[in-house]
Amino acid sequence: MSKTTIIGIAGGSGSGKTSVTSKILKNLEGYSVALIEQDYYYKNQDHLTFEERLKTNYDHPFAFDNELLIQNLKDLRNGKTVEVPTYDYSNHTRSEKTITFEPKDVIIVEGIFALENSNLRDLMDVKIYVDTDADLRILRRIVRDIEERGRTMESVIDQYLTVVRPMHNQFIEPTKKYADIIIPEGGSNSVAIDIMTTKIQSLIQV
Ligand code: C5P
Repeated sequence: MSKTTIIGIAGGSGSGKTSVTSKILKNLEGYSVALIEQDYYYKNQDHLTFEERLKTNYDHPFAFDNELLIQNLKDLRNGKTVEVPTYDYSNHTRSEKTITFEPKDVIIVEGIFALENSNLRDLMDVKIYVDTDADLRILRRIVRDIEERGRTMESVIDQYLTVVRPMHNQFIEPTKKYADIIIPEGGSNSVAIDIMTTKIQSLIQV
């Protein structure tokens, strides 16, 4: 079996990680590639009431079950099929659904804390940080959270000022130093995306 190449794509909420990832995935059509979102691994909160879940800090590394993510990646690398959890942002807990992932040549792990955990970083062959100004990040987040995650404008602004912004500065921004490549402006940076695609293709052929 060929070696699994693991790529980490980190960056703040609304930085354009998803856009960078989907463009790289499009460039890699025809290759054996899977995308695992770190958000799938937000911890199960079924034991908490909805009001209690609203108080959880979702921008702290403790909110994620990174142990399970690391185990799933190791299993995939060892040729095993895994069941990956999924997450329900409206109910702030794990959803019933799981996704079956088969081993692939390339696995992309995308998430705000993709580069925060050293055991997770150690599994990665290439580490990317998508670096986008805070004004663009909050504008994108307002639109996304209202349209896709069932939030109100007031709740998005309140969460941003009290939690997302301070946690970004404390925990996410510092992970930039672990990146092999820092991509400014996310998905619109076609040169960086092409360079990353070429790099990943070269790793697959090894
Ligand atoms: O997709 P993105 O990287 O933006 O997802 C991470 C963000 O999701 C975090 O900044 C966190 O505030 C938010 N989140 C949330 N409610 C949850 C879980 C995560 O607002 N229940």
